[in-house]
Amino acid sequence: MPSSGDTFLQQQNARSDEESYKAIFASSGLRKSHLVFPVFVSNSPCLIKSMPGIAMTPIRRISQYVQSIADSGISSIIIFGIPKSRDPIGSSAFDRKGIVQNAIREIKSSFGNTMSITTDVCICQYNLTGHCGIVSNGGRVDNDATLKVLAKIAASHAEAGADVVAPSAMMDGQVYAVKRELHSRRLDASVLSFSAKHASSLYTPFRSAAFAKITTRLDKSSYQVSYSNSRLALREIETDINEGADMVMIKPALTYLDLVRMVKNRFNYPVAVQNVSGEYAIVKAAAMQGWINEDEWKVHSIASIKRAGADKIISYFVLDVAKYI
Ligand code: PBG
Ligand code: ZN
Repeated sequence: MPSSGDTFLQQQNARSDEESYKAIFASSGLRKSHLVFPVFVSNSPCLIKSMPGIAMTPIRRISQYVQSIADSGISSIIIFGIPKSRDPIGSSAFDRKGIVQNAIREIKSSFGNTMSITTDVCICQYNLTGHCGIVSNGGRVDNDATLKVLAKIAASHAEAGADVVAPSAMMDGQVYAVKRELHSRRLDASVLSFSAKHASSLYTPFRSAAFAKITTRLDKSSYQVSYSNSRLALREIETDINEGADMVMIKPALTYLDLVRMVKNRFNYPVAVQNVSGEYAIVKAAAMQGWINEDEWKVHSIASIKRAGADKIISYFVLDVAKYI
């Protein structure tokens, strides 16, 4: 049994850990306004097994859920939609009454401009193949046919009230296609491009939640960037800037911090970084075994993403670390 002395010491240690985490964030220049929390919206509530602590929230509970985010002092979310069913062309992705569109309207009616909403613009959660592009008869992804759909999805999100639309399909010309559609319909959402989205098994926990009925082993390497090709990643980013992206994104986070710094130095442009589901799951798995100090790791990793030059950090850890800022 711990003596009262031990308890006192433990309290002192906890307090000094907290002080040191706060000092790390303060010296990195991190503010709550740099953080974006991912929100999964689905038809029925469920916990995501591969991402302990992360849930899918139905529309009827979404405002309550977003309130808990706001209570942590976080004022920016990115929405991922998990629709009830899929169809060959992923039509519910651009349905005015689709799951994401409904969620946006609900959140905006409760929070107005106090909660900034970014949306993931893609078709892979909505179509039958799980690919981010339309797969033609020959089995190839049809880039240009996909652009039209992405533009429609983005416009439907903006129309529902999204502040930022984030095309994540890695199709060539996706930023320009989305920009043009928004402009022609006089919608003023800004565009965050998932510019350098690297093909990675680190998306597996996300896919096992979103794609459970298809497969988690989809090969997206024909359109996502390969690990070894930082020159291609830089070119993708430069192209998206030239097409008018308001901000570009690099993901996953921790294996690409050099690229974040390179982009910052070379283009001096707003950069977002997504700390993805696998990066979350690795930490959770080790922490649940008692093998690492979870809070220390979360603080160090988020601070390192900031130090590399990220202007926005999307992470499933956002709510956990907000108390140290
Ligand atoms: C869909 C999408 C994915 C992620 C974000 N948007 C999955 C994929 O590309 O297969 C991954 C997010 C994460 O792992 O946290 N285009
Ligand atoms: Zn996709």
